[in-house]
Amino acid sequence: MLDTARIRQDFPILSRKVNGVPLVYLDNAATSQKPRSVIRALVDYYERYNSNVHRGVHTLSMEATDAMEEARQKVADFVNAESPSCIIWTRNTTEALNLVAQGWAMEHVAAGERIVTTAMEHHSNLVPWQRVARERGAELRILPLAEDGALDLSDVNSIIDTRTRLVTAVHVSNSLGTINPVKALAARAKEVGAAFLVDGAQSVPHMPVDVQDIGCDFMAFSGHKMLGPTGIGVLYARREALERMEPFLVGGEMVLQVSYEDATWNDLPMRFEAGTPNVADAIGMGAAVDYLNGLGMDRVREHEIQITGYALDAFGEIEDLDVFGPADPEKRGGVIPFHTTEVHAHDFGTVLDRRGIAVRTGHHCTMPLMETLGVAATARASFYVYNTEEEVDVLVDAVKEAMRYFLDGSR
Ligand code: ALA
Repeated sequence: MLDTARIRQDFPILSRKVNGVPLVYLDNAATSQKPRSVIRALVDYYERYNSNVHRGVHTLSMEATDAMEEARQKVADFVNAESPSCIIWTRNTTEALNLVAQGWAMEHVAAGERIVTTAMEHHSNLVPWQRVARERGAELRILPLAEDGALDLSDVNSIIDTRTRLVTAVHVSNSLGTINPVKALAARAKEVGAAFLVDGAQSVPHMPVDVQDIGCDFMAFSGHKMLGPTGIGVLYARREALERMEPFLVGGEMVLQVSYEDATWNDLPMRFEAGTPNVADAIGMGAAVDYLNGLGMDRVREHEIQITGYALDAFGEIEDLDVFGPADPEKRGGVIPFHTTEVHAHDFGTVLDRRGIAVRTGHHCTMPLMETLGVAATARASFYVYNTEEEVDVLVDAVKEAMRYFLDGSR
């Protein structure tokens, strides 16, 4: 098991107080906190070798280039990509998904063909496909939700048919916690000759993820949800997929030869990284990967199952409170969305904040899913490596207090 007491010492922010009480940070699906080693990597870059990359022969530029490329290699190894040239730096998961939409789908999805996504996607893995479908004259199909918060795959073979060009799914739902069967979806996509894209924003930080084992063509994820800085994300793509993709940003760095009339593209991965990249945060993301590797991703996942199971049991005892997503902690990530008709999610958020507890409230960028669930919003607690069962107790106690306050007016 993870030694959470020791881990917590690595995160300066966890010792602060909010509203006079210790911070209980349970908004990790929105963004994670950063260990000292990540913060130090950023400071070190700016204090010692801040420079542009791939451009200079001076020492600082070479040091910055080496550090950024080393980080790319670390990220490639972390998800078992076949090569660091399959790792494209982006700003975040959203940008990585849009890169596939603009660079791949606009080129390869034809009129009358299909794109398939799921009923539990974040807007960032739905809206780009609505646009591609509209612009290309393609059809967007949705894999529906089952009662238990999993995907209903009973019609998967007719929904993903031979006219499908692209299948995409979120690996772990940010709104339900559901872990989707991405390997099976990849196999079905392959069977019909479609590409398969995984939104790994909530899985890569929390469990061992192997892109080759899954068999996906693309996977998108972000640094800031895995202890790294904001402003840096990743698109993993199989080499053959990248070679069939057009860059959607053009300009400096991504070119090989330029004349007044024309230009040729640079090698991979730089072809997709126009302009000065986010050097500092890429290096910071490398430091975050080092930290997670130090903990061991198997143990990270084990901790998550344990704390999620503990929280589900405790929430299960609160009358009139609905918890969405699969009941089995083995089948979900550390995301617990809760709802009651009597307390608005934002009221939960406000009462919890008074107790120093940070949770996210709202539609979690999944408005269509909220509609399917029949709710306007939920409150959501989400866990990470530094969270403890004691913090879950504080949360559950505060949720009960909020319910008493709003249901009985007893305070
Ligand atoms: N996608 C992030 C979340 O679920 C921001 O909160």
